[in-house]
Amino acid sequence: MHHFSYKNGILHAEDVSLEEIAKKVGTPFYCYSTATLERHYTVFKQVFDGIDTLICYAMKANSNQAVLKTLANLGSGADVVSEGELRRALLAGIPPEKIVFSGVGKTSFELKAALDAGILCINVESEPELHNLSRIASEMGKEAHVSFRINPDVDAKTHDKIATGKSENKFGIPLKDAERVYAEAARLPGVKPTGIDMHIGSQITDLQPFDNAFSRLGALIRSLREQGHAIDHVDLGGGLGIPYKHDNLPPPDPQNYAKVVRHHVESLDCRVIFEPGRLIAGNAGILVGEVIYVKQGEAKTFIIGNVGMNDLIRPTLYEAHHDVLCIEEKKSDAEWITADLVGPVCETGDYIAQDRSMPLMKSGDLFAVLSAGAYGAVQSNTYNTRPLVAEVIVKNNVYEIIRPHMSVDCIINIDNIPKWL
Ligand code: LLP
Repeated sequence: MHHFSYKNGILHAEDVSLEEIAKKVGTPFYCYSTATLERHYTVFKQVFDGIDTLICYAMKANSNQAVLKTLANLGSGADVVSEGELRRALLAGIPPEKIVFSGVGKTSFELKAALDAGILCINVESEPELHNLSRIASEMGKEAHVSFRINPDVDAKTHDKIATGKSENKFGIPLKDAERVYAEAARLPGVKPTGIDMHIGSQITDLQPFDNAFSRLGALIRSLREQGHAIDHVDLGGGLGIPYKHDNLPPPDPQNYAKVVRHHVESLDCRVIFEPGRLIAGNAGILVGEVIYVKQGEAKTFIIGNVGMNDLIRPTLYEAHHDVLCIEEKKSDAEWITADLVGPVCETGDYIAQDRSMPLMKSGDLFAVLSAGAYGAVQSNTYNTRPLVAEVIVKNNVYEIIRPHMSVDCIINIDNIPKWL
């Protein structure tokens, strides 16, 4: 579900013409819909009515402060994975008591920053991290509230690069070690285990892996409580998938996901934290680009756009599918071709769509890459000295630039040529 649709033959974001934005802002640009962000947050919140929940939006999906502020205004917390993300979340008005900190490699500097900010919970992912945190918190005269991220060894049935809950993945503490680590934490100064945490992967479209993982977690919480640990919250992570193709079966409805969650948590009598990222932001954003050339190769037709793998890396990194629409709606008698939509970057892996049936476009035509609101702008880079593109947010009939186009000077000027050269 999203708020990008054709009005009078032109693709709009809510009530704003994307052709209009392209003229004023210049392509390429990411465009987000406030209504879609708000709807996704609200739908996800509502399916858990009656349960004490906190949604900590996984801001790695899209960390623009305007997006964060939109969600903060609805009451969202944040799942952060770096000191930089922590700062962004606080600046956007997310209160520290709604922030959890995940990640396998939190540095001492980052742990200190989290303790200084007084965040809700640090999701500890290893014994060395636990010892480091205990030392730092003791030195600071503080007590860190911690959860341990448990790795349940469950196959999330998603792309290998975004599966995180299998024993061979670097994430979390093996289930078999959990009781020992909680006992260790209870003995250490400066740390207090208050919760338990899990995140088994991303773009998960089958509910069974969640069901398996949550049942393992439930059993563990019961035995930890028997051993005297006061577990007051369970963090079930994020991971629920979104539809990327308009014509395929939709992934599980949040309602059905909620049924699985309720089945496992209702008897636990504790607060439930979620860390959805993609579900909130994915379909709330598009990437708008422009055709530079249409090139007839020997074996294929290439539509060469000004959007490259540096702007949206998902197709080449995860073999991800993103629907592509022309900004100007094509008439029913338009010529359709099978082509690759590629970018200008000097890599064979630089494509947005391969062997895709699409209307024949010509130089100067505008197109939109859909479902690009999560893991789009945040994973972009300046490869080939290509500046980061602009980001725009729309609300009803108004829009605003929330990150301007980066200048080439900005990239070049951070280099330093040593005096001796
Ligand atoms: N919590 C933790 C600890 C995570 O590592 C992640 C995502 C999330 C929550 C949010 O997961 P979501 O609800 O968005 O599925 N760049 C990849 C996705 C990487 C996900 C990393 N962790 C992509 O573009 O598909």
